[in-house]
Amino acid sequence: MSLKKSEQIADIQGVVLPIRIIGDKVLRRKAEPVTEINDDLRKIVADMIETMYVKDGVGLAAPQVGVSLRIFVIDTEWVATQQRNPMVFINPKFISTESVEEAEEGCLSLPDIVSEVKRALKVEIEAYDLEGNLKRYSSEGFFARAIQHEYDHLDGIVFTDRIGKVKLFRLKNQIKEFESKTDQNGNNFDYYHSD
Ligand code: NI
Repeated sequence: MSLKKSEQIADIQGVVLPIRIIGDKVLRRKAEPVTEINDDLRKIVADMIETMYVKDGVGLAAPQVGVSLRIFVIDTEWVATQQRNPMVFINPKFISTESVEEAEEGCLSLPDIVSEVKRALKVEIEAYDLEGNLKRYSSEGFFARAIQHEYDHLDGIVFTDRIGKVKLFRLKNQIKEFESKTDQNGNNFDYYHSD
């Protein structure tokens, strides 16, 4: 893949994009690898970052804003610190995973649904940043969980796919309700979105 040297992400002002809700086909598609880091891609990432902060997410994957590319952004600290320090993962690849932990998760694409999900406690991952550098990240706990959750979106998986039948039964009607709002094109824009 070709990767051009980039300007700083801070130079591009992102806008808030509508969040795609479960039932939208884009959330079920396997996203395509990024082949070039150019201005269009930097704009998409800037929009994803702005959307993540404004919607109070700790992470956001490109398919959640209707872009079927292998990109996600994460900032697990900002809710506590109010400092924006987004991390960008392009074409991520797991290197290793270790141990298992169960903890609660939610997702902007499944509003108001929370459930315990089993994830690896530690993960090592490689991904390109916006400058086209391949970086390796060792993560643990909440950060590792966020990485696994966002990575799943790139393969068309949502967190409720990973919970047991008993827990899922309790959430079935809520999920069906979201899915029923999908239009004929498979679009189901953020029902919170109001501008
Ligand atoms: Ni999610």
